[in-house]
Parts: sequence; structure tokens; C-alpha cells
Amino acid sequence: MAALIPAAGSGTRLGQGPKAFVQVGGRSLLERSVAALTGHVDEVLVALPAGMNLPPGVRARAIVGGRTRQESVLRLLEASGADLVLIHDAARPFLSAETVRAVLAAVQQTGAATVAQPVADTLVRADLKLADRPLWNERVERAGLWAVQTPQAGRRDWLLEAHLRANAEGYSATDDAGLLHWAGHEVTLVPGEASLFKVTTPGDLLLAEALAAVWDA
Ligand code: CTP
Ligand code: MG
Repeated sequence: MAALIPAAGSGTRLGQGPKAFVQVGGRSLLERSVAALTGHVDEVLVALPAGMNLPPGVRARAIVGGRTRQESVLRLLEASGADLVLIHDAARPFLSAETVRAVLAAVQQTGAATVAQPVADTLVRADLKLADRPLWNERVERAGLWAVQTPQAGRRDWLLEAHLRANAEGYSATDDAGLLHWAGHEVTLVPGEASLFKVTTPGDLLLAEALAAVWDA
């Protein structure tokens, strides 16, 4: 089992340079994600932006990522020799050992799994006919809807095949469980946790700083 960590994004929405290197509570997002997986897997592989090195103290094997997340993950899949892989965004630094164990157990039984959370908020489709004022259009039934997070895990041969087919057909997905499902595999949903939110915007960084104080205590 290998852990693959796409960390090659530029962090455009956060606006503080390559996001994996941004610190919360004194530790980078990358360092936190690597630490959460160390000891659960045989090897940790990280995809970094071109020209960047692993920060000191982060024990992993680094490769250069691609222009998109999908391309970075494909490079990681090709660099790994493991039968089963767990894929986790560096941008989700608060990953508990319980969740890692739950995803690993699910993938060992089924070959494809992702962490996901049943949606708690009311969902509405927006009407965007006004440029500056989104309007309520229609409510979307929430029952049965889950928000997909990482870690995701799968058989590496299934993932590679799905990625190569997606490339050949020009199909792109925001995540790897989505590609596995698109390729015809059953994907198990493993209940996740709110702490696994993706640090995307400056507001998320504030939340992450506050959570780090509790998480590290
Ligand atoms: N990622 C990657 N290679 C890319 C783009 C993204 O490895 N070419 C990684 C990011 O480093 C992150 C994860 O995929 O860990 C999720 O991406 P996202 O949250 O979109 O991060 P960024 O692409 O860095 O942010 P932005 O989209 O705001 O630029
Ligand atoms: Mg991105």
C-alpha cells in the first residue's frame, strides 16, 4: 500500500504561493498530510510543483506534478509500484488515524473507496440571470447526497486504466473515485469528518488556524 499525495497545485484561490507549503499552526499543509499517513502505508509519494523540494523533515519520495490535479495523480500512479494506493490531497491537512484505517479497510475489501460526508445544509440551484445578485431558483433534494473528500483508495491497476482511458477520451474529473466510477467500478463511500475540509480560500485558512490549535493540543 502506498500513499500518493498530489501537492503540485499553485494555490491561486488562497493567494499565498504553492498551497502545500503554506503553514497552519507552524506546520505546512504538506507536512501535516504526510505525517497523518506515515506508519499506515509502506511508502509515501508526493507530487510537487516543478522546481520545489520537499521541506526539511518531510519523509517521502517526491516527483514533479503535472498541469492539472488529474495529471499529477497519473504521474504518482506511474511512479508507484504498489497494488493498492491511497490518494490524499495535501490541501486537507486534518486527517485522523481512524479515517485512514477506515478507508484502508474498505479498499482491502472492495478495491475502491472514498471518504465522503452526507450533506447537512439545504441545497439550492442558483439562478444567475442577474450579474451581481444570485437568486434562489430551486431547491435540490438533499436526501442521499454526499460531499466527496479525500482520502480515496483503489487498486492501482484500476486507477491507471481509468486515468489512461480518461486521457484518451478527453474526460476530466475532479477526483479519482469519480474516475473509477466513470470507468465502471463500484466505489464504497466511507463516512468522513468535517475536519477534512479542503483549505481553498483565505477564510478556510482562518478556520484551519483555529482547528490546528485544538488538533495539536
Ligand atoms: N494539485 C496537484 N497538481 C495540480 C493541481 C492541484 O497536485 N496541477 C493538488 C493540490 O496541490 C491540492 C489538490 O490537488 O493538494 C487539490 O487541488 P486544489 O485545492 O485545487 O489546490 P490548488 O490547485 O493548489 O489551488 P487553486 O485551484 O486555488 O489554484
Ligand atoms: Mg486547483
